[in-house]
Amino acid sequence: MPDDSRLTESEFLAIRTLVYDRFGINLTDQKRNLVVGRLQKVLRIHHFSTFGEYLDFLNADTSGEALSDLIDRISTNHTFFFREPEHFRFMTAVALPLLSRTLAERHERDLRIWSAGCSSGEEPYSIVMTLQMFFGHAYKQWTAGVLATDISAHVLRHAARGIYPLERLAKTPADIRARYFEPVDADTIRVKPEVQADVTFRRLNFMSESFPFKKPFHIIFCRNVMIYFDAPTRAALMKKFYDVLAPGGYLLIGHSESLGRDSVYFDYVQPAVYQRKP
Ligand SMILES: C[S@@+](CC[C@H](N)C(=O)[O-])C[C@H]1O[C@@H](n2cnc3c(N)ncnc32)[C@H](O)[C@@H]1O
Repeated sequence: MPDDSRLTESEFLAIRTLVYDRFGINLTDQKRNLVVGRLQKVLRIHHFSTFGEYLDFLNADTSGEALSDLIDRISTNHTFFFREPEHFRFMTAVALPLLSRTLAERHERDLRIWSAGCSSGEEPYSIVMTLQMFFGHAYKQWTAGVLATDISAHVLRHAARGIYPLERLAKTPADIRARYFEPVDADTIRVKPEVQADVTFRRLNFMSESFPFKKPFHIIFCRNVMIYFDAPTRAALMKKFYDVLAPGGYLLIGHSESLGRDSVYFDYVQPAVYQRKP
């Protein structure tokens, strides 16, 4: 159990304000123990005896590395392959048939998907596998791919390697395991290169003023990220997603999250699935 007596009220407030202002993450009072638990190690590494010294170090750092390390430690990165399978069924049964038909009618073959808050990569790789299974032999005729972004440099490094402990595949159907993964050793498995090749990983902070994309996306996955944000931060993010989605494009959020049914920017389709208004 972390010793939270070492973190004073004003130090907690300073960390909380910094994390909120820079990353949008809302560290409520209940997260106090989590903050102590996750930052204790960094105090040890730098031989700081108080959180005050750590805050001075954070404020003096101009390289951005200390802040990057802070977010790596604070953010929750839990994820696994084919999490919330209803979304992958929706892609196959509804979104991909509709989007591919509409694009093909316009003689376009460029289907763009964004995994926003991709963590260690299980989500974007699951999306590519779903695309490859849906299109089959025709997949080569599409420039379909997934942009996968996260704030944490640490998870992105893991994601790019594409190597995972077997337990991350607990919810992955056996045929998909056999087709898209290869064993590394008894406990570890690797995503096949043809899946890896279609995911581009980039670091991106949702708090950026605007997103640097030239072309709109057809589907955005932003799942189990907004639970860490408060209502104003979520509302600002919705507007930014609206701006980078093609009309009629889909926004998929976590099943424990909600946009409500009267969003200005999105129509409700089914639980955790929304469609951009025209
Ligand atoms: C719980 S994971 C969700 C992973 C995956 N989408 C899923 O549903 O399994 C949440 C991710 O959001 C990222 N995140 C949190 N705040 C962020 C921000 N301000 N900008 C970008 N990513 C952020 C975290 O680093 C973390 O990897």
